[in-house]
Amino acid sequence: MTRIGIHDLAVATTHHVVELDDLAEAAGVDPAKYRLGLGQERMSFPAPDDDVVTIGAAAAAPILERHGADGIRTVLFATESGVDQSKSGGVFVHRLLGLPPTVRTVELKQACYGGTAALQTALGIVARDPRERVLVISSDIARYELDSPGEPTQGAAAVAMLVSADPDILEIEPIAGVNTTDVDDFWRPTDSTTAIVDGALSLDAYLHSVTGAWDDYRAQGGPDVDEIHRFVYHQPFTKMARKAHAHLAAHTGVELPVETLETSFRYNRVLGNSYTASLFVGLAAVLDHEDDLAGTRIGLFSYGSGSVSEIITGIVQDGYREHSRRDETAAALAARVRLPLDDYRALHAATTTSSADVETPHVTTRPYRFAGVRGRARHYEPTTTPATAERETVEPASADR
Ligand code: COA
Repeated sequence: MTRIGIHDLAVATTHHVVELDDLAEAAGVDPAKYRLGLGQERMSFPAPDDDVVTIGAAAAAPILERHGADGIRTVLFATESGVDQSKSGGVFVHRLLGLPPTVRTVELKQACYGGTAALQTALGIVARDPRERVLVISSDIARYELDSPGEPTQGAAAVAMLVSADPDILEIEPIAGVNTTDVDDFWRPTDSTTAIVDGALSLDAYLHSVTGAWDDYRAQGGPDVDEIHRFVYHQPFTKMARKAHAHLAAHTGVELPVETLETSFRYNRVLGNSYTASLFVGLAAVLDHEDDLAGTRIGLFSYGSGSVSEIITGIVQDGYREHSRRDETAAALAARVRLPLDDYRALHAATTTSSADVETPHVTTRPYRFAGVRGRARHYEPTTTPATAERETVEPASADR
């Protein structure tokens, strides 16, 4: 059988970053609640000319630089925070990246699960014709209401993955465990820029889904828990992954040390929640920071509120370290510009669902920018004009590297 999986992956994020210590101070909350209670230190935040298209394109560009576009006939763009009710964000990315017209492009949605749906779809396309390669982009900007419990769990990131036969990084195994349960734990009505969430219910629904997907995975013939060497979970906040792992340990009766999750938190702790991208950000962190994974099996748990969840596994390929983008990801994190709390609150409050014509100020220093709306249509461009915003680059946190 043809081996199919992740041939390359790259992470991108927004121009700004908000320090959760600043948020805690302004809210009169003990900073330890965010650092330890949620396991979060910082959250990426978009400049006015960043969005899921621009960071998605920024994640995908280095993959095309390395591999070219030959064989790419499909772009799958997964997001919760899409920019149009009809047009796929992937079509904007397709143009920004100069991809040929002989490509099918579509957007997928199911809260934070959409990226895994895109990956599964990509695997199917390559299984049908192993000459094809599929560009999968998961890109999200997580927004909760100001002063709500969800506010410190916001964030933003995109992960682009090239899915192909004979992958250099991770061969995805065919067995998957899935679970769909209709639950109102988190959703976002079309007139709202922020998610509506029942926090306690979302935690319960997530844990219920871990065991539901796990039981299906085993029923489908998936290997037992002690044959999976590393687990990576969707991380709405990193503490959630600890809870999930402990829950799986109790469910299976097998001791599963939570310390083995630590590496998967390195990027998510300082990016915040990135919905569809979060799981793959965790995977990138593990691949970038662990040297001895070749031949081991990694379990990936994906959860999208509403809810759909899935467990898949992959075998890490020999030589995976040679394909690491660790330095580039560290540079992208370190280059973010710290946003003072007042500016963050003003930008957050100004976020709108309006499609009125507007020219967007030049702020972002990322490779692509949202230029504005003309004739109610969105326009994007490479970032050629120097950003005018005052910059204060943050020192990398211990977790950034
Ligand atoms: N020092 C250390 N830890 C502290 C603390 C302090 N001073 N104060 C509180 N904590 C801990 C709490 O004990 C709790 O940990 P636990 O869950 O292990 O018991 C944690 O910090 C969170 O505190 P809590 O009071 O439960 O937080 P909250 O009511 O403010 O909301 C969420 C937490 C996750 C529900 C909220 O951030 C949210 O709605 N997030 C968005 C939805 C989401 O991400 N859901 C996940 C599934 S998709």
